[in-house]
Amino acid sequence: MPGPSFFEDIKAYVGFGEADSTLLREFGTKVEGDLIRISDVFYERMLGHPGAMRVFEDLSQVQRLKYTLVEWFRSGLSGPHGEAFYERRLQIGRRHVQIELPQQYMFTAMDVVRLELRALVEQHESADSQRRRALSDAVDRWLDLELAIMLKSYRDHSDALLARKERLAGIGQVAGTIGHELRNPLGVIESSLYLVRRRLGEDDRVSKHLDRIEEQVRSAGDIITDLLDLVRDQAPKRELVELRPLVERCLHELQVPSGVSFEVRVPEGMTVDGDAKLICRAVVNLVKNAFEAMLEHPGVVSVSALATASEIVIEVVDEGPGFEPEILRSAFEPLVTTRSQGVGLGLALVQRVAQRHGGSAEAENRATGGALVRLSLPRRAPAIQRS
Ligand code: HEM
Repeated sequence: MPGPSFFEDIKAYVGFGEADSTLLREFGTKVEGDLIRISDVFYERMLGHPGAMRVFEDLSQVQRLKYTLVEWFRSGLSGPHGEAFYERRLQIGRRHVQIELPQQYMFTAMDVVRLELRALVEQHESADSQRRRALSDAVDRWLDLELAIMLKSYRDHSDALLARKERLAGIGQVAGTIGHELRNPLGVIESSLYLVRRRLGEDDRVSKHLDRIEEQVRSAGDIITDLLDLVRDQAPKRELVELRPLVERCLHELQVPSGVSFEVRVPEGMTVDGDAKLICRAVVNLVKNAFEAMLEHPGVVSVSALATASEIVIEVVDEGPGFEPEILRSAFEPLVTTRSQGVGLGLALVQRVAQRHGGSAEAENRATGGALVRLSLPRRAPAIQRS
């Protein structure tokens, strides 16, 4: 037999029953005229705190939310407090997770609601102390349910994040081992290729195929290097690196596709305190991605860099079709790709490089078309680095 649902369980735990639903419903009809006022008080409190205020887009959104909150009061008071009610509340909780409202603000928010409703209970039930007490308890139990559901939305979210992290770590370990094992056969292919070329390299047709084999072996080697860089957990080997010569050196061997005009706009003299090899791989991956996005879209790909007070920001921009919305959300996750070629490690590696330096990576579509990926690295090594 399946056990009680989360909602039934939590209702039993706080002692919320039919009698509470009835009391709340009757109370709801009496306080209808007060709801917009307490909704005003609620958002005034939220706007008064800099951290909480940050999640609002603008005042017109707050104005709209006031009416949403009035609806929330109405449905909470009128019930019915069944599974459909629970599902709707879970959705509301998820919305707050989505807008990244810190969970701790929920406690204070619920207290604001609690205090306002308590005052209304006092006001509307002043004559009957027993009823006042019962109603006040019903309000408390209802708000305990609401808070429990809000917090469940947050917990569900962090459970899902953790599960994904563990899944990726598992994939990473297996992939890393396989990658490592593939190095040997690739090495053998490479040396045999060298010998075959010496004997048959004069024949143009054979030579063309040998070139292709070599190119593909190199590409397989690059994939393995990305994979191993991704799963390796070593601190970057930091040194003061001059960015422009580094970028030019790293990109030197990349073939610019026909129809693409490639620009490096990194100022002379700009330095970054980082691991030259890792930064190089990140930049190469970004530019390779940009080139691939441009295969059917002639135009410009550029690498630029600027220095802010605390960071060096490297941007790679293309004029291709941009990221599909689905992909944009998870662009930095390993194995996410829409390309027929490539295994989706490029951007994951870029983010890993950023994180290992204590920086960040962002991807977006440009208003003028095409994609932009930004790699931000702190100018000085942070005291604590994310692994
Ligand atoms: C007692 C606690 C709270 C309740 C009952 C509540 C209620 C609601 C409801 C009903 C929605 C609409 C959700 C939907 O249908 O998608 C919503 C969205 C939202 N809430 Fe809350 N909220 C609470 C706490 C907070 C706090 C503390 C903040 C910020 C400080 C906040 C900011 C927002 C924002 C920004 C949205 C998104 C609006 C949008 O989609 O445009 N809420 N809230």
